[in-house]
Amino acid sequence: MPDLPVILGIESSCDETAAALVRADRVILAQHIASQAETHARHGGVVPEVAARGHLESIGPVIAKTLALADWDMGRIDGVAATGGPGLIGGVLVGTVAAKAIAAARGLPYYAINHLEGHALTARLTDDLAYPYLLLLVSGGHTQLLAVFGPGQYQRYGTTLDDAAGEAFDKGAQLLGLGYPGGPAIEAAAKSGDPASLSLPHPRARHKDCHFSFSGLKTALARQIEAEREHLCVADMAASLQAAIADALASRTRRALQKFIAETGVARLVVAGGVAANQAVGAALAEVARDHDAEWVQPPPALCTDNAAMIAWAGMEYHLAGRSSDLDFAPRPRWPLDADAPPPPGRGVRQ
Ligand code: KG4
Ligand code: ZN
Repeated sequence: MPDLPVILGIESSCDETAAALVRADRVILAQHIASQAETHARHGGVVPEVAARGHLESIGPVIAKTLALADWDMGRIDGVAATGGPGLIGGVLVGTVAAKAIAAARGLPYYAINHLEGHALTARLTDDLAYPYLLLLVSGGHTQLLAVFGPGQYQRYGTTLDDAAGEAFDKGAQLLGLGYPGGPAIEAAAKSGDPASLSLPHPRARHKDCHFSFSGLKTALARQIEAEREHLCVADMAASLQAAIADALASRTRRALQKFIAETGVARLVVAGGVAANQAVGAALAEVARDHDAEWVQPPPALCTDNAAMIAWAGMEYHLAGRSSDLDFAPRPRWPLDADAPPPPGRGVRQ
């Protein structure tokens, strides 16, 4: 039996330099992540110039370490995939140049992967899920509901009109003095808190579409913190914020899943992106899936947050379909999954 194809994946669009080797039978042979989180925590967020320099320093060692972990060599790789956007351009350039150099030197196909597509296809890597499915993509920069029909085939049902869900966690954590990145800090603090202790607004509750808005939550939280300055209970506030975000995500997803089932006759729901690592968010979405007898996938936390296995796997899907990228591919700081989606309504416009 011929050896199964193996793809090297590289991710460098934010504050993590990562590489992974993934085989066509969905086995992650090795992966390694060099995180800059500690560096950026000192600044309360990612500083693009600092991040780009960090990627440049880490990319070579991270790839070498990944190969060593699997006891693999470049001669046994069938293609190279790297995040080509969206993200911080300095980091994306570093990963793209590295991937192109390896591909050119070895005569291998190169795959420019949309970072969001890496998240979007993770459920196929972890659970061998069939197409089509409804995806809630929740990361630091994006909050979208998408019907996924195949690689490169997406139909957007909804998006955020202002902040992303991850930003709501990050900004909330900042207000509560919990540091960066905010999502894991809020989740940890919320464990000992009462989610019903604060009444936060339900964003866009009366709107009948699948769009999100999170900026009002942050304002409401800031007001509560100001009001309760004397006896502020951080755990209660964290738990209430987490519950409000989970609730907002679940209510829009419920509506989108009904639309998806009506349009495709298929009941399948997936969550992906950094916020998908949150167990309260996962539980709220699992309930939506259960209510509709839908197949449901929440990938393990390490494959929800940024990683290179998802980039390698997306590369594998294109590899198996024989769709490689040109070596003159130019990184894209912006790269929507559904370029044809109509723009979302202006804030405050009732749908
Ligand atoms: O997908 P990701 O790792 O990077 C981007 O592509 O943006 O997502 C990062 C976001 C951050 O906003 C972070 O606070 C959030 O995901 N996040 C979480 C958790 N882990 C990461 N949010 C809530 N709960 C978590 N456990
Ligand atoms: Zn991401």
